[in-house]
Amino acid sequence: MTRTKIAFIGAGNMASSLIGGLLDDGYAHENIVVADPDEERRSQVAANFGVKVTADNHRALERADIVVLAVKPQVLETVCRSLASAIASPPPLFVSIAAGARTDAILRWLEHDVPLIRSMPNTPAAVRAGATALYATASVTQQDRNDAESLLRAVGVTVWVDDESLLDAVTALSGSGPAYFFLLMEAMQSAGESLGLAPDVARLLTLQTAFGAAKIALESGADPAVLRQRVTSPGGTTEKALEVLRGSDFVTIINKAVAAARERGAELADRLGGKNG
Ligand SMILES: NC(=O)c1ccc[n+]([C@@H]2O[C@H](COP(=O)([O-])OP(=O)(O)OC[C@H]3O[C@@H](n4cnc5c(N)ncnc54)[C@H](OP(=O)(O)O)[C@@H]3O)[C@@H](O)[C@H]2O)c1
Repeated sequence: MTRTKIAFIGAGNMASSLIGGLLDDGYAHENIVVADPDEERRSQVAANFGVKVTADNHRALERADIVVLAVKPQVLETVCRSLASAIASPPPLFVSIAAGARTDAILRWLEHDVPLIRSMPNTPAAVRAGATALYATASVTQQDRNDAESLLRAVGVTVWVDDESLLDAVTALSGSGPAYFFLLMEAMQSAGESLGLAPDVARLLTLQTAFGAAKIALESGADPAVLRQRVTSPGGTTEKALEVLRGSDFVTIINKAVAAARERGAELADRLGGKNG
């Protein structure tokens, strides 16, 4: 990271994950300031990470090189509008992690043409296994991109999209994605139990299998389709199970589910951003 001082607006779950990741990466705790109205949250964050905390968002902005907007989407407009008068010249880099808040709305609320990067992380960021997509607005420099990438890479992998509307697809795929895998795990665990396995045995076998499958896919770099073929012997047990899944339109159902999530994400973003605000 080329610039030093980072201000987090909002001291919630995602801010804590990011701060933890940055500190693990060797980032100096004295260069992080966190603003949150909740005293208990502030004390927790100060105690856990040794960072500076404040109840005053304007104070957090003072001397910040990077401002991370880490509040819930529904309060983002109020937060941005209140920050507008404290934005210095030249402005810091703003990085929003708020789901569904589009950059045109954020820039309108901030009342300044600041360099702004919108990101969409996911919950596995809490265990440094997140997947984040980033989108940069026009005034963002290469250095801004590098800094935002370092920030989000502290909690997992990052990818860039060059069309903001693709963040709705990202939200549907990796944002909501952990829940799809949890559902599959629930179903597999329950299937194991109904075949006579003890719940704890079915659970462990399911979770480790999910973890192992993802690890092989990531480490081998091979397409999931190729990996699936490799573990499917003709006439064997896996082939039999896959026949049942295909016969039930498994792939179509997943496609429909992800498309529905994308549509809902776009609707929520329209509602959040308003048009005239
Ligand atoms: N958690 C995830 O995995 C995840 C994934 C993708 C995107 N995100 C995005 O990350 C953002 C934060 O999510 P989160 O799960 O970390 O939420 P969270 O735990 O609720 O954290 C938000 C924090 O912001 C504080 N806050 C509220 N109003 C504020 C204000 N005016 N100024 C400063 N801080 C204020 C909240 O305090 P109070 O509790 O007192 O209101 C809370 O501590 C959201 O926009 C979400 O869409 C999260």
